[in-house]
Amino acid sequence: SPLVAITGTLLAVTAVPYLAFLGLYAWVGPSGSPAEKSEAKPTVSVVLPTYNESQIVETKLEDLLALDYPMEKVELIVVDSSTDDTREIIREYFADLEAPDLTLIEEDERRGLAPALNEAYEAAEREMVVKTDCDSKLPQNVLREAAANLSDPKVDAVTGRNVEVLGGSGVESGYRGVQSHIQQLESHLDSTLIFHGPFSAFENDALLPIDPNSLADDTELALKIRRQGGRVIFDPAVQYKEASHSAFVKRRKQKDRRAMGLIRLLVQHRDALGEYGKYGKLVLPFNWWFMIVSPWLLTLTLVVGTVAAIASLGTAGAALPVAVGLFTFLGQRDALGPAQALYSLFDTQVSLLRASVELLRGKG
Ligand code: GDD
Repeated sequence: SPLVAITGTLLAVTAVPYLAFLGLYAWVGPSGSPAEKSEAKPTVSVVLPTYNESQIVETKLEDLLALDYPMEKVELIVVDSSTDDTREIIREYFADLEAPDLTLIEEDERRGLAPALNEAYEAAEREMVVKTDCDSKLPQNVLREAAANLSDPKVDAVTGRNVEVLGGSGVESGYRGVQSHIQQLESHLDSTLIFHGPFSAFENDALLPIDPNSLADDTELALKIRRQGGRVIFDPAVQYKEASHSAFVKRRKQKDRRAMGLIRLLVQHRDALGEYGKYGKLVLPFNWWFMIVSPWLLTLTLVVGTVAAIASLGTAGAALPVAVGLFTFLGQRDALGPAQALYSLFDTQVSLLRASVELLRGKG
């Protein structure tokens, strides 16, 4: 029937860019960092934004002090907007410490993460600027690995891989695995789009102010740095562990918010499409496809496919939506075994769709 033919066409149109990307992956065979890495020990400003983190901030400071790096080369810049006693805990922790140096920026009222970060980046004086979150955990070699990437004169920023989702949701970790391959390919082609808040490192000279309303501050900064000329890359050897909300509603909210920030950023920077070498010709178009076009096409395919199945098979056609429902039910419970990563991708597409709808409704 024509409906089946339309479903087939929609499915093919949805799949072609993914298959093209897979083909490109096989052809390029990306592995590791594309940077010419060499050992380097620049001075480092670690930027840590905090908002009501009194429960975990001490663990984070211990984690930072345990890094395998000469601490006399490090300064910690905390920008704190808390209403709890986070800043007192930090001050006390640093009272008898000789290194690293501490700069504590105290905000009287919470203006949002992006303005807080702008202030911290402005205060950063060392050569390499690292941004990290309070609830992420860093391995000891992370500053050295980041510095090795930035020693390549063409590279102005590097982000890393989430090796384990603390507080564990398989849905998140499944997707992170797929994302790591995508980001390696993007970096080998030119530069990657998404920068990760739990750990990103930038050349101080390359820093730029971010939009105070940004919901994707790390990615925005990287995108602007790429537009300025420097490469911004992903290295799987730069690693971190990020806390994730295992509670379904919280995780959904966090993921939808991120999706909204990324879509908004792509739209704001649409004039970069086709520019900046392979970044604008391949990386950005693929992300437009994945984040903006594909969620709608996939939804349309499912709707038309369901109508087509019911029209041609009668009630047996209802097996399609039931199968999708079952896939979702099992996927959310991390019960799909080898198909879990596929569900994670589907789950991400759902978040992107919800975020697009919210943006179209004028929210965010
Ligand atoms: N100073 C300040 N002011 N810090 C804040 C504020 C604020 O208004 N809001 C959050 N923070 C701090 C938190 O204390 C934490 O250390 C870090 O910023 C990240 O906050 P989360 O609440 O864990 O953010 P998220 O996981 O939803 O956000 C993710 O996406 C953001 C946008 O790209 C993280 O990856 C962030 O790093 C990222 O900036």
